[in-house]
Amino acid sequence: MDFKLIIYEKSEEIATITLNRPEALNAFSKEVVEEILQALEDIRRDENVRVIILTGAGEKAFSAGADIKAMIGMNALKARELSLMGEKLCVSFENLEKPVIAALNGYALGGGMEVAMSCDIRIAAENVRMGQTEINIGLIPGWGGTQRLTRLVGRGKAKELVFTGRMIDARTAEQLGIVNMVVAADKFRETVRQFALELAAKAPVALKVAKALIDKGADIGLGSALALEREGFGVVASTEDLQEGVKAFTEKRKPTFKGK
Ligand code: CAA
Repeated sequence: MDFKLIIYEKSEEIATITLNRPEALNAFSKEVVEEILQALEDIRRDENVRVIILTGAGEKAFSAGADIKAMIGMNALKARELSLMGEKLCVSFENLEKPVIAALNGYALGGGMEVAMSCDIRIAAENVRMGQTEINIGLIPGWGGTQRLTRLVGRGKAKELVFTGRMIDARTAEQLGIVNMVVAADKFRETVRQFALELAAKAPVALKVAKALIDKGADIGLGSALALEREGFGVVASTEDLQEGVKAFTEKRKPTFKGK
């Protein structure tokens, strides 16, 4: 696969997608999104890939959002297309049946923050600055920011962040539950890798079903969500991996899960 705007690597059951436009703070252009979607297609098909890391090249940014320079002269129809493109990208991460870790190594702004919020786990380096900054250029979030942020932090804080366009630091993002953890810069890459390896060692079907239940269940009533969980529990219970897990427990050893 020949990519120009992302770096796509696979090792130790981890696929890493690195946004690679550091000169533009890894802003998402149409071409960047197309390359990511192509990489995700490969990830979907490759049974050896169990966990995905999404990160940014350089020390400064995960991503500063959608490409502002491409917005010059943008009309309503083009804006709708841009919104649809980001929606497709974010939903692709959510629908991927494998855990996705956003490794936030700097600015995560606008669409950058929105894409990060569509990933399953967010690990932030200490220098992270996050924000739905669109209002500062006379815009609103268009890649799910008004919705996913609200689901993460509640209406009050979501309005504060979207209305002011202020950036928050890593500790504030952690306190608000926008990121799962904050890590010192010198330990950042290794911590992300170890977290990914931890997930890669878990039973893939159990992870897949748990991800779907948490995401889908959040949008429906509790009774229906619990019914979904019951069915999912049944599916996971029918896997060979459960038997391996139980056997490993009784034999006092680590299980080896195959995703079957
Ligand atoms: N799109 C295109 N280019 C961008 C960009 C973006 N979102 N963000 C930064 N860049 C470019 C800059 O234009 C600059 O390029 P040039 O040297 O060619 O001018 C380069 O990246 C470095 O940026 P700065 O010189 O601005 O770096 P800085 O350290 O002074 O400031 C920053 C960093 C505060 C992040 C600032 O770049 C910034 O505010 N960027 C915009 C962030 C933003 O508002 N993002 C939201 C975009 S809209 C959106 O995402 C809509 C949506 O919901 C999908």
